[in-house]
Amino acid sequence: MEINKIYQGNCLEVLKKFDDDIFDLGITSPPYNKLQAGGGKKSIFGPIVYDNFDDTLPEDEYQKQQIDILNELYRTTIPGGSFFYNHKVRHIKNNTINPIEWLIKTDWNIKQEIIWDRISALNIRGYHFWQYDERIYWLYKPTKDNKMWGPLESKHANLSSIWRVIPDRNNDHPAPFPLELPVRVMSSIFKDSKYKLVIDPYMGSGTTGVACKFLSQHYVGIDISKKYIDEANSRIDNYEKEHKIFRKEVDSYKVVGKTWKERKRKELKDIEDKEFIENKLKEWGGKD
Ligand SMILES: C[S@@+](CC[C@H](N)C(=O)[O-])C[C@H]1O[C@@H](n2cnc3c(N)ncnc32)[C@H](O)[C@@H]1O
Repeated sequence: MEINKIYQGNCLEVLKKFDDDIFDLGITSPPYNKLQAGGGKKSIFGPIVYDNFDDTLPEDEYQKQQIDILNELYRTTIPGGSFFYNHKVRHIKNNTINPIEWLIKTDWNIKQEIIWDRISALNIRGYHFWQYDERIYWLYKPTKDNKMWGPLESKHANLSSIWRVIPDRNNDHPAPFPLELPVRVMSSIFKDSKYKLVIDPYMGSGTTGVACKFLSQHYVGIDISKKYIDEANSRIDNYEKEHKIFRKEVDSYKVVGKTWKERKRKELKDIEDKEFIENKLKEWGGKD
């Protein structure tokens, strides 16, 4: 496998060729099976139209395909690694389909459900309340000894599970996520600046690759469209043009005064038994 490359093909088939336990992190947004073939491009009233496939599978086939891909991603992710899966609750006719329905059938542990508040609705037709939200599922592959994931860094302790980020309107791709999302995920998850490998199996316009460039990390992308891959490669080569968005996101992280451990130590301050304190901190999980 080559790093810093976007492979062309069906991501399930491409992933099958990769070794076990190679990715530190993954971030993606799959096509949502919106069942809207044909029509105009990117209109707020019209469907999303992709370059070379229709987003119109029978729902049970779509869910099975997503489970198979997520399980391949699980296999190729290191123990202790995470995957951030962006999707949405879909309203189809009189029914609501929640991504949790297939996520619980995958090998992943579902660590957290994050609400992405887009502060705007995509498809305003009045059949439902305007849907401003999408979801980002933090999926986790436990370590062999099932150790808990350590606490988030203090600079992220005041970032809530509601991420208020406006969509990217300056992108020719029909369904990009904003640069802020992969930047926030990576800045939250990586605790040191050592080499990390990030996978995005639906790379689209290359947003995850751009985030990797800013954060000096490495990526592997996959997309079915050659056109999108060419555009993504050119965007990644010119990533510095997006410096303002990157800086604004990173500068919004406010460091809280005390780390989780420091706060817990304060709670235990009247206890003299040092061993008891250390064991308690270990039991509550994580490192500083
Ligand atoms: C929602 S978009 C991803 C957008 C991306 N997050 C971005 O910021 O630009 C989904 C992408 O998946 C690609 N795609 C669809 N089916 C695929 C498949 N089976 N394997 C790989 N890529 C696929 C589409 O060409 C499209 O670019």
